[in-house]
Parts: sequence; structure tokens; C-alpha cells
Amino acid sequence: MREGSHVIVLPFPAQGHITPMSQFCKRLASKGLKITLIIVSDKPSPPYKTEHDSITVVPISNGFQEGEKRSQDLDDIMERVQTSIKTRLPKLIEDMNLSGNPPRALVYDSTMSWLLDVAHSYGLRGAVFFTQPWLVSTIYYHVTKGSFSVPSTKYGHSALASFPSFPMLNMNDLPSFLCESSSYPNLLRVVIDQLSNIDRVDIILCNTFGKLEEKLLKWVQSLWPVLNIGPTVPSMYLDKRLSSDKNYGFSLFDANVAECVEWLNSKQPSSVVYVSLGSLVVLKEDQMMELAEGLRQSGHFFLWVVRETEKNKLPRNYVEETGEKGLIVSWSPQLDVLTHESVGCFLTHCGWNSMLEGLSFGVPMIGMPHWADQPTNAKFMEDVWKVGVRVKADVNGFVRREEIVRRVGEVMEGEKGKEIRKNGEKWKVLAREAVSEGGSSDKSINEFVSKFC
Ligand code: UDX
Repeated sequence: MREGSHVIVLPFPAQGHITPMSQFCKRLASKGLKITLIIVSDKPSPPYKTEHDSITVVPISNGFQEGEKRSQDLDDIMERVQTSIKTRLPKLIEDMNLSGNPPRALVYDSTMSWLLDVAHSYGLRGAVFFTQPWLVSTIYYHVTKGSFSVPSTKYGHSALASFPSFPMLNMNDLPSFLCESSSYPNLLRVVIDQLSNIDRVDIILCNTFGKLEEKLLKWVQSLWPVLNIGPTVPSMYLDKRLSSDKNYGFSLFDANVAECVEWLNSKQPSSVVYVSLGSLVVLKEDQMMELAEGLRQSGHFFLWVVRETEKNKLPRNYVEETGEKGLIVSWSPQLDVLTHESVGCFLTHCGWNSMLEGLSFGVPMIGMPHWADQPTNAKFMEDVWKVGVRVKADVNGFVRREEIVRRVGEVMEGEKGKEIRKNGEKWKVLAREAVSEGGSSDKSINEFVSKFC
């Protein structure tokens, strides 16, 4: 490898995509690469260097004018993002070429598969980055190839789907965009499109690790040039001794660390339920009420992330009445929270980053999946890795407060909880092994570095 070779990294502008790809940048920087991380943002600004100088962040426009109301129309958003990147990326690449250290590869988010052709047209290698596990992408692949077709609605179908190396999946376990295809036609198109040019991609990166999807990976690796580089959780959180990327620290999202940590410090070990349903999930008002009451009735302490826009759905006087039993924040320092000894379990929407974080820290999970890949992730969490349980919803997808109370009790107090904790310890060790020096993901990162640079 040449010291200081240069790579561009371009995530899709959403938290669950920016986070793993920016963490990946830190890993690459720790191996001596220079990185330009392009962030599509509603606040474009001049490029800036992070603390360690190896990573330059370039915030470019998301295509909306300052102050312009952001539309909720996904097609419109995708088109603006695409136009903005296509307008600005060529000039950025030209400038980088003139700087004396031309980029050699473009690492781009799988949801923007059109970037492969852009990369190739500028003489760069194209490396696609999947922020979701193979167990989800392979289902999309089978749909793309026509080897699996899903009923147009999940209701009224008890049919099971069988994939090699998978447990049997029922309709509730499939990615929601497939089994409720009429509800999300645009998102369905985006996720299917991810695989449209996969046979032409120079390298495929995935935020997963060898042991986690072992059998499936054999099949995937027989088809494509795959490098599994996860979990992208910063190594300093995994183990104080694994601090190779700690000097590359920069954070693109702010949270009130002190408030959360101080509150957790005042609690007993394993006494707190941490609740976060991610950055995109919008609960209906009655579901929010039910969750709020379920948490209250569980009798346990809880730290709950409720976004500002969701707070008006909480029961009246909920915060005051909850008092010291609960802390409600609009955004949490999730890694600091999950590694805090007071946290006894994680009630999660099963976004892939959250799942990997819970798994890497050995925190027992309660899955309350909402959409996208989350139902499939939840199935594996409960039935394959056995590191948590999934709440049962009724036919309309509604989860009752009694179910929340039952599942919290089961994981925090019951025998099941002990079993889950034991399994969690195993996965925690395997996740650390994968990213430690010489581990499978660390080797993949070395391979990436030597291949492209
Ligand atoms: C969605 C998909 O479900 C996921 O599989 C895909 O790869 C990305 O898009 P998302 O809803 O964004 O996921 O959740 P998740 O993948 O869990 O990512 C959220 C990230 O935000 C995590 O890294 C989490 O640590 C962080 N977070 C979340 C915080 O730091 N603080 C919070 O309060 C909430």
C-alpha cells in the first residue's frame, strides 16, 4: 500500500447510513489512507478536516434551498440528492486530482447504485457499501432474479418463505417493502435497484462480520467480490485496548452525553431499559401511548429517546408523573448508553446499526421492528443469534402495553433473560474478534486497502 492513498466515501443522507460509513472512514484512516467524506446536507459548508487531518469532510447541498420546506416525497428527495451529487462530484474529483493526491476509489452507498457508472466514468474503482446485512440483501436479490415472489399483501397469508441457510420466514419476517409493496412502491424500487448492477461492482463492502451470517456468506462470496468489514462500531467502545481509531474521533451528530451518563450513573447495574426506535420510525399516537404505559407499568427505570416531533404523542403529564423512573431525551449518545453498566436491556426498532451495537456490547434486546429490514433483523436476533426477544403484535401490527410489560420482565428478570445474556456474551466476543487486529473484518479492511490503493 502507498502511504496516504486517497479514497472518496459517499453515504446516503440518513443517520443509519452516515454513521457506519463515517466509522468505516476512521478505520481506513487508521490504516494510513486519506479520506474525503462527502456528506449530502441541508447545511452545505466549506470542507473541513477532522481532528487527525486524514479525513476531510465535504458537506454538499441536498438540493433544497436554505429555508425551503423539505418535501416528504421520496422520489423528489432522491432526485434532488442525485442531481446535487451529479452536479458537484465531477468538480470535487477534478480539484482532488489537481491536489496531487488523486482519489482511486469511490465508496458509495448501496441505495445509490447509479454512482457506480459515475465512478467508472472518472476512472475510479467503484466500491458499494451495504449498510444492511446479507440476510436482507439476499432476499432482495431473489426477488430481483425472479426466484422468489412475495404476495402483494402480508395479510391473509400464512405462507412461509424458505431461503438457503435461513430459518423458515413467515410474512411478518420479510422486509416490509416486499410484503407491503403497494404501501412503499418507491422504497421498494430503491432497495431492489441496489442489486441491479452488482455483477459489475469492483468490490462489495458490507457492515457485517464472518461468524454472524456464516453459511449465507459462503454463498454470497461465491458470487461476488465481497468484503465484510463490520461491525463498524468504534473500537474504543468495544475494548479500551482496541483504540486504533480513537484519534480519528469526530462526531456528526450531537447528543447530551453528560445528561444521560449522569442519570445512568445514579442507577444500579443492569437496572435500566434503554428504548430507542431509531431516527425515522414514526409511531401512531395510540401506539406511542401504549408503549409509554407499558414502560411505566414495567416498574423498571427507563431511558427513552423520543424525537422532538414525537413528544406531543406522549400521554399528558407523562414526564412529570414518571419523575426519576424515566429520562426522556430527544437524542442519545447511544454507544455511551449501551456500554453503561446500568443498562439491562435495549428495546430497539432493530435497525441494523442498533442491532450490531447491541450485539457487540452483549446487551439483551427486545425487538419492536417497524418497517424496512427491521422485521428480518428481529427474526435473526430472536431465533438465530438468540440475543433477545421480539414483541408480538396483533394482526394490525399493534403492540399492547401488557406485551411490553411481559417482554421487559422476561428479559430483565426471567430465566429467559439469563439465557439471552449468556448468548450475548458469546456474540460480544465474536464481534470483537472480527474487528481486532488479524480478525476477519480487520483482514477485509487490509484487503480493501491493498486492492485499491
Ligand atoms: C435504517 C435501517 O433499518 C438500517 O438497517 C439501515 O442500515 C439504515 O437505515 P435506522 O432507522 O437509521 O436504520 O436505525 P439504525 O440502523 O439502528 O441506525 C441508527 C443509528 O443512530 C445507530 O448507529 C444509533 O447508535 C444512532 N442513534 C440512534 C444515536 O446515536 N442516538 C439515538 O438517540 C438514536
